[in-house]
Amino acid sequence: MQFFKLSSSLNGSTLINFTKRTHTCGELRGSDIGKTITLTGWVDTRRDLGGVIFVDLRDRYGKTQVVFNPQTNQVVHDVAGSLRSEFVISVTGKVEKRPDGTENPSLATGEIDILADKLEILNKADTPPFPIEDEIQANEEVRLKYRYLDLRRPVMQRNMLIRHKLYQITRNYFDSINFIEVETPILMKSTPEGARDYLVPSRVHHGKFYALPQSPQTYKQILMVAGMDRYFQIVKCFRDEDLRADRQPEFTQIDIEMSFVDEEDIYTMAEGLVHRLFKEIKNIEIQLPLTRLSYKQAMELYGSDKPDTRFGLSFTNINEVVGNSEFKVFADTVKKGGVVAGFTAPGCANYTRNQLDVLTDFVKNLGAGGLVWMRVTENGIETPSEKFLGKEKVAAIGQALQAAVGDMIFLISDTWAKAYTILGALRLEMARRLNLIDETKNHLLWVTDFPMFEYDETEKRHVAVHHPFTSSKIEDAALLDTEPLKARARAYDLVLNGNEIAGGSIRIYDRTMQSKVFNLLGISQEEAQKKFGFMLDAFRYGAPPHGGIAFGVDRICMLLSGEKSIRDVIAFPKTASGMSLMDDAPSEVDAMQLKELHVRIV
Ligand code: AMO
Repeated sequence: MQFFKLSSSLNGSTLINFTKRTHTCGELRGSDIGKTITLTGWVDTRRDLGGVIFVDLRDRYGKTQVVFNPQTNQVVHDVAGSLRSEFVISVTGKVEKRPDGTENPSLATGEIDILADKLEILNKADTPPFPIEDEIQANEEVRLKYRYLDLRRPVMQRNMLIRHKLYQITRNYFDSINFIEVETPILMKSTPEGARDYLVPSRVHHGKFYALPQSPQTYKQILMVAGMDRYFQIVKCFRDEDLRADRQPEFTQIDIEMSFVDEEDIYTMAEGLVHRLFKEIKNIEIQLPLTRLSYKQAMELYGSDKPDTRFGLSFTNINEVVGNSEFKVFADTVKKGGVVAGFTAPGCANYTRNQLDVLTDFVKNLGAGGLVWMRVTENGIETPSEKFLGKEKVAAIGQALQAAVGDMIFLISDTWAKAYTILGALRLEMARRLNLIDETKNHLLWVTDFPMFEYDETEKRHVAVHHPFTSSKIEDAALLDTEPLKARARAYDLVLNGNEIAGGSIRIYDRTMQSKVFNLLGISQEEAQKKFGFMLDAFRYGAPPHGGIAFGVDRICMLLSGEKSIRDVIAFPKTASGMSLMDDAPSEVDAMQLKELHVRIV
């Protein structure tokens, strides 16, 4: 106190000591009537009604109505006249019951108000560029520039609270089942997770760079070699990739690794976490064990490796029906090993030509040759394709797809991957058009048995579908030598309402197998040694069988909060072009800094 006064007189500022709060703005109830209390917070609204001033005072905990009546205290009332939105104040007064009929049942403190007898203005505020309330018109750029104001909005405070709860539940959960939290470096050697690295030049080591971790993948595996047995970490990851609503250049994972486990142990552990998060944050009981679909099933039923299963519209393969038909497009596709498949859209038989053209363009934009449609009417199935397929085949297709009168059948023929991927996009589009997605549902499922590799046509080489440390299924190991593209991985993703919220795998812990996989990925022995030698070396000293998974914290928080963008659950996110609009990062740096780092801008 003494120091406070001294410092204020020293620098000539207007600092004053202030009356501290006795309660928060969300706390007072009918049972507090008659008490003299102090609240601190921000002026939410001020209304002058017949000489009496009403102020809603806001803090993180809620809002309380404060009444400035000239009959109670004329001076305080006059000062209250100068209050504006977002002024910071301390108010002392008596808790009183609101007059009958003026209670506000939508406010937790709505039964009472405060009859103010003392008012301190702790700070003034410029007029904010948008109102501090849940529903605002401001565009996201303005919100991000004034993020401190945006975060003051109740909905954003709730989102931050959900995120905070997620951290606490996660830490408690893992602690309770013998996991230890270990921090791993942010300045590290580049990890091969598939995206571009963020690089940090070294001042001391001329021409050398650190990379920011795309994930702590190599470290957590080495922690298993180090005997940590069960590791977790809530950790920032950095990936320089194209951004979307569910992707940020820096994002947070709950990163997990376990020794002496198989898939079942990982599923049980991860399901336990998800169960707790839903129970403790949303009071929703998730039914365990979760459904599982293999990657193949997920693709062939829903056309996605992260299917939204809150609605049907699943696919039927009709290769057998049309393989020997006169319809050349279908017959050729089947002959070449491709797929003819489709689904029925309920109640869409009366779609206009124009609506069908729009959908045809939609699939063509995704690379489809065309869209075959069939209306199921009282008089049978009507389709332009009947002239190629014949009445009988058309009827057989209707039967295979279990189409009813009023439905529309959509069919695509292409290679396996293309046909199902395009159908998957069309399925989502139809679900949106038909309003089939029940937003109150929470559908979680495992997608398992991903392929080990994909063939990258531009790079003309195999790439790992998960990452290079993922083990193949034991029964598919021989395929690595013969048909690697057919080999399945011990990899799994956890999907919530069509979003990939976690992904992981059982790892390779055998050096020979690891070399074989590097080889298949076109990584030479020298390159492997240079990039991951430290890890391969560690594996010489008794690596236990191990596996793990990582949850995307931002995505889970987004879904638990009912938001559409992960930016709404990150305190200080980046824009789609990787900018931080509040502090203007990335920014130019001094020539001197560059010189020290031996970096030249060209
Ligand atoms: P993966 O790359 O699948 O696995 O990432 C795990 C989870 O992290 C989330 N995620 C992201 N969230 C926001 N923005 C991004 N740019 C972003 N990228 C990924 C997703 C995803 O499911 N090391 C492995 C895990 C392992 O094998 O144990 C890994 O990082 O929700």
